[in-house]
Amino acid sequence: MALLNNLCNFRVKRQYFNGKYLIPAISILLLVAVIAVSNAYFPFLVIMPRTRSIWLSYSSFSTSTGGRKADGETCDIFRGEWVPDHDAPYYTNDTCPIIHEHYDCMKYGKLDLGFVQWRWRPDGRDLPRLDPARFLSSMRGKTLAFIGDSLAKNHMNSLICLLTRVAEPTTSWPSSEHTVYHYGGGYNFTVLNFWAPFLVRSELVDADGPAHTGLWNLYLDEPDAAWAPLVPAFDYAVVSASSWFYRPSMLYEAGRLVGCHHCLLPNVTDLTLRYALRMATRAALRAVVGCGGVTAVLRTVSPSQYEGGEWNKDGNCVRTRPYRRGEKTLQGFELDFHTLQVEEFEAAKRAASGGGVRMMLMDTTEAMILGADAHPSRYRGWTRRKE
Ligand SMILES: *[C@@H]1O[C@H](CO)[C@@H](O)[C@H](O)[C@H]1NC(C)=O
Ligand SMILES: *[C@@H]1O[C@H](CO)[C@@H](O)[C@H](O)[C@H]1NC(C)=O
Ligand SMILES: *[C@@H]1O[C@H](CO)[C@@H](O)[C@H](O)[C@H]1NC(C)=O
Repeated sequence: MALLNNLCNFRVKRQYFNGKYLIPAISILLLVAVIAVSNAYFPFLVIMPRTRSIWLSYSSFSTSTGGRKADGETCDIFRGEWVPDHDAPYYTNDTCPIIHEHYDCMKYGKLDLGFVQWRWRPDGRDLPRLDPARFLSSMRGKTLAFIGDSLAKNHMNSLICLLTRVAEPTTSWPSSEHTVYHYGGGYNFTVLNFWAPFLVRSELVDADGPAHTGLWNLYLDEPDAAWAPLVPAFDYAVVSASSWFYRPSMLYEAGRLVGCHHCLLPNVTDLTLRYALRMATRAALRAVVGCGGVTAVLRTVSPSQYEGGEWNKDGNCVRTRPYRRGEKTLQGFELDFHTLQVEEFEAAKRAASGGGVRMMLMDTTEAMILGADAHPSRYRGWTRRKE
């Protein structure tokens, strides 16, 4: 804990105590005081593939048990299957104004729209539907941050789309990596989205690189400044990233090159993308729990659903219904990613124990593997234009 506190103090000093950050620093310090005395339960739980979503109220959730019930009952909400839901959809591209062009697969011609009519049913019980009014009232005065890649963004979009039945937020863009959605009108609920696909500081050093997907410098022990300085303002932070780590990268720690992933240089050790994701996840979790008062949620890897090629080549997502349990299993890098995410989550939880930190592993990988029909695939706006 001492280490984490130092990290936190260091960051607050470095980021806020110059003129530019002074006013945010004051309001954030006030916020920290508010957070310190509040003890609200974690009021929701979320499952969603790229375009299908389920937001659930789950007030009996215990923060110390990673989504399992604390009373010893065997209810693991992350094990289950997709079952037909004839009441769905709860929003469409016409009822939700914030679906980005890139993901508006309805507009861009996705033929099979059955993917919206399924719901996740955990083994042995049904989960209640998200009640937007109840959700908003339980989040009054709170700030929920989504940090990561396009999956983090989709996840957030889905929540906002579900809430449009009751309220629509105002939107602002403090920077190109930072979007703020605020619910006024008595709700006073704020949703933040941070574009940080590597979670840590990154630089594109070669737009082509060994795999033609760019070569990146990743500073594995430096949480991305797009989000890390703002952690004291969060009540909940959902961290999700993994798919950008396939890109070749040079890996730095304490400012020094320690190795790479697929750089193909004879004099640089290939530490692999597993190492990069592990260290970046570790740094991100530390930054989130380090200042106390924030509920940290780590969302596990969502497997690729492309078949017949890669996402940026000939791959396509052709399923028209979810897989049944056992039809598809986690393999290869995705299995390794999941394993290391669970390990890093557990290690962060142990390191923070006693510090009053709330953490949750959102272990949605299985639901995401099975939900392979819900991907926008070729019907994302930009992919379509390229054709
Ligand atoms: C929504 O999708 C339909 C096709 O299902 C399309 O005709 C319509 O233009 C889209 N609306 C928006 C706002 O994108
Ligand atoms: C809204 O919530 C913030 C905390 O996120 C709090 O500081 C502020 O006072 C609240 N505003 C109102 C009008 O309740
Ligand atoms: C590796 O070799 C390349 C070319 O020979 C050189 O430019 C680079 O500085 C070397 N890198 C390290 C870390 O030694």
